[in-house]
Amino acid sequence: MTPRRDVIGKEDSLSGAEAAVVSPLPTPDEERDDASLRPRSLTEFVGQPDLLEHLAIVLEAAKQRRQAVDHLLFAGPPGLGKTSLAGIVASELGVGLRITSGPVLARPGDLAALLTDLNEGDVLFIDEIHRLSRTVEEVLYPAMEDGKLDIVIGKGPGARAIRLDLPRFTLVGATTRIGLVASPLRDRFGFVGRLELYDPSELRSIVERSATLLGVEIDEDGARRIAERSRGTPRIANRLLRRVRDFVQVRGDGVITAEAASEGLALFGVDELGLDKVDRTILEVLCVRFGGHPVGLSTLAQAIGEEPGTIEDAYEPFLVQRGMVTRTPRGRKATEAAYAHLGLAARLLDPDR
Ligand SMILES: Nc1ncnc2c1ncn2[C@@H]1O[C@H](COP(=O)(O)OP(=O)(O)OP(=O)(O)O)[C@@H](O)[C@H]1O
Ligand SMILES: [Mg+2]
Repeated sequence: MTPRRDVIGKEDSLSGAEAAVVSPLPTPDEERDDASLRPRSLTEFVGQPDLLEHLAIVLEAAKQRRQAVDHLLFAGPPGLGKTSLAGIVASELGVGLRITSGPVLARPGDLAALLTDLNEGDVLFIDEIHRLSRTVEEVLYPAMEDGKLDIVIGKGPGARAIRLDLPRFTLVGATTRIGLVASPLRDRFGFVGRLELYDPSELRSIVERSATLLGVEIDEDGARRIAERSRGTPRIANRLLRRVRDFVQVRGDGVITAEAASEGLALFGVDELGLDKVDRTILEVLCVRFGGHPVGLSTLAQAIGEEPGTIEDAYEPFLVQRGMVTRTPRGRKATEAAYAHLGLAARLLDPDR
């Protein structure tokens, strides 16, 4: 049984090295070399069958008509393949891809410069599109709808508005928070694709594909073991695969079997449900420090030493999906399953408190 820890103090706060093995957010290294494992075509992209079928039809129809594809919006949790899909759209269409993001486009002029620099047919990818400012969004509307750019030249009484024709382009937006995309913007997308968490068999295929690309030997059970602990997220599956590859290289015979995967993952702090140290700290804070009372997001974040947004995007969805945490109007609460997972007595649960 897991020893009970009553007080979680500052001395327990997590060091960078041991934190976040299973966070779906990319590490700086992954930002750089995720590229090697990214699927490059619709056929390499595993999972999301409905979305892929619809997308393939939209792309094929536009190609047949020799028109630019309607603007596309991809929504879903981090690490599920939104950026990969944007690249696939451009490569399937055989056009250029320009990449930017909501927070980078601070002023309308930043967007205007990008738009006027596009080549005919290009894909413009705007990541985190829910973070565009209102003024930048207003430049985007006529560009998306009529292919026009409205700009004002000069200042004061002598200023005049002019309208420029833009090259034909396809906007691909991505967001982890579809609810925060302003509705006039959302309505201008001809296609909204929602990505769902992957099931273990899809993740197993992704792990096997990545293992081939990385040149590491893995058996079926080894791939299954990594897939089961990847919280439905390809980015995490690839990260766990890399950690287990390190483990078998140094401590094993270089082959990833189920036993080697379990041992390697345990060493890196990933348990049999795919929870890591940050998840367990969240559960411990809710169960032990706050004794099962509801805890507000910012209080929880402070107790753990993470940003509230990171907890909301990266940790909470999986803990909620697994039935270990519930969101109540008064805050987050641990469930009986959380106590059970930590090996704590559920007698701490008192529904009246
Ligand atoms: N369907 C898939 N098949 C194979 N690999 C995938 C798939 N989806 C994602 N991946 C892998 O996961 C990694 C992360 O995917 P990607 O960067 O496209 O996610 P994202 O949804 O854009 O995440 P974020 O919201 O953090 O930007 C990719 O580099 C790729 O290796
Ligand atoms: Mg992305």
